[in-house]
Amino acid sequence: MHSHEDIKITKVASSKIQGMDFSHLPFGKYFTDHMFVAEYSDGKWHSPEIVPYGPICFEPSMATIHYGQSIFEGIKGYRLKDGSPAVFRPFDNHKRFNRSAMRMEMPEVPEEIFIGGMKALLALEENWIPTAYDHSLYIRPFMFATDQVIGVSPSQTYKFMIILSPVGPYYAAPMRIYVEEQFVRAAPGGVGYAKTAGNYAASLHPAAVAKSRGYDQVLWTDAVEHKYVQECGTMNVFFVLGGKLITPGLENGTILEGVTRDSVITVAGDMGLEVEQREISIDELADAYANGMLTEAFGAGTAATIAKIAELRYKDYVMNFDPENQPVADQLKKTLTSIRDGEAPDNRGWMMSVK
Ligand code: COI
Repeated sequence: MHSHEDIKITKVASSKIQGMDFSHLPFGKYFTDHMFVAEYSDGKWHSPEIVPYGPICFEPSMATIHYGQSIFEGIKGYRLKDGSPAVFRPFDNHKRFNRSAMRMEMPEVPEEIFIGGMKALLALEENWIPTAYDHSLYIRPFMFATDQVIGVSPSQTYKFMIILSPVGPYYAAPMRIYVEEQFVRAAPGGVGYAKTAGNYAASLHPAAVAKSRGYDQVLWTDAVEHKYVQECGTMNVFFVLGGKLITPGLENGTILEGVTRDSVITVAGDMGLEVEQREISIDELADAYANGMLTEAFGAGTAATIAKIAELRYKDYVMNFDPENQPVADQLKKTLTSIRDGEAPDNRGWMMSVK
């Protein structure tokens, strides 16, 4: 067992923070002074350490490069109204991380490493938490295989790390999205629910095609019929249909079980909205739009927060949503923001304090 005190800390000689422009923070470009590292070998996690942020070195045979045994999480740290640093729902991300680990035949990471490492790192880097609206300290825990062997088999050794990046909003403007009918993100039995590097690699070409057509992202559909919507790749998707909030269900393991998704569902329930998690066909959405019943569309994710969809295209059928008139998305965002900022009561113990 490791406690805070067991983590060896090597500090930088001088901080980079003076040179940071906190008013201009593109997503995930700048990193704080330090990083957390722990090693797995002989069936055990050991050597938890905080060191200056910097390069890591491997032989070309390193397993992750070839076969992609690599998983990650996205979490955000905020500064509460009383000035104290806190993290939004990290225990839920920890659980999901270990579900991803199991699917990728990687070892579980215990709480004292995942949460303990995060707390120790944040205690050191709390001055890096931006305070402007929609800004936060993005926490990126990740684990990857480190065996230097090119046989296809589960690695015997792994590295777990946490890096931190002060960020602004991922999508600055309302999004244009089209319904993907050629490429597939995930099929039942696959790895759709795992937050593994390859899912993101596989999304890059379809996203590049979308960009070349003037769209920000695709909305994935099911692998068999291209009929049921899944998620947007960087975020889960929600619609307001006939006054109800609807979102694809988790039952066939093809979409990511988003922590922000769960938070939106919970907060919407508190607001008295009816919420349905179920199969949603693109035909149902198009019909509801034609009848004036589909009034809002938005994405939800840690990086994206609540990101409004301004245009959703299905073949030649274009559905437009006025970003100025999405009251449910606005209310959800306001409520979640006020919990994260410590303005609203944290009834469910979502905020983990760092100290
Ligand atoms: C997140 O929302 O944290 C994500 O991981 C999505 C994306 C940045 C990969």
